[in-house]
Amino acid sequence: MEIIFATRNKGKLKEVKEILKDHIVFGMEEIGIDIEVIEDGNTFEENALKKAVEIMKAAGKVVLSDDSGMEIDCLNKEPGVQSAYFLGEHTPYAERNAIILDMLKDVRDNERGARYVAVIAAAFPDGRTLLSKGIMEGYIGYEQRGENGFGYDSIFYPKGYDKSVAELSSEAKNGISHRGIALREMEGLLREMNT
Ligand code: IMP
Repeated sequence: MEIIFATRNKGKLKEVKEILKDHIVFGMEEIGIDIEVIEDGNTFEENALKKAVEIMKAAGKVVLSDDSGMEIDCLNKEPGVQSAYFLGEHTPYAERNAIILDMLKDVRDNERGARYVAVIAAAFPDGRTLLSKGIMEGYIGYEQRGENGFGYDSIFYPKGYDKSVAELSSEAKNGISHRGIALREMEGLLREMNT
């Protein structure tokens, strides 16, 4: 299936193309669509669906979109749906991650729980929609480690690992990540639709 994945984030698009390798996936820039959808929902589901539907209406093709973020338990699940904007949309992640580590400097091991959440929405030109969700449990480490990935990966350590996500290869990350889980579930839903 030819699918437009509604992102301009190159890190995300690379992960999506690796996971949906049985489909032909285009990013927004690759097909010259430049629509800004305001992510003003209170949930990942609302935002993902709004983005997929608006872009599908403009493109007239199947559109997949995701909304994702990180929830930190001791910060009342912040930044959550605000993850992209937390501490300033244009603040480099190395700086944001250093600030978060500082905010958590007195927080003990068992209270450093966090999770990455991803919701994928699909919108079809005939009006049908699909949703899938993936969660990766983990914790905030004590230092930034690793060079891979993007965003908060250098401070997010998956449950049971003493490595940050930024120290994992992209294959290893995709195997356990929130987005990987949600995308594989979506791939199954797309396959069911075609049978
Ligand atoms: P979205 O593009 O609106 O879905 O925003 C997602 C934001 O959540 C990103 O800009 C990152 O700040 C954060 N995020 C989501 N998934 C990941 C991930 O896999 N690694 C690191 N940060 C992530």
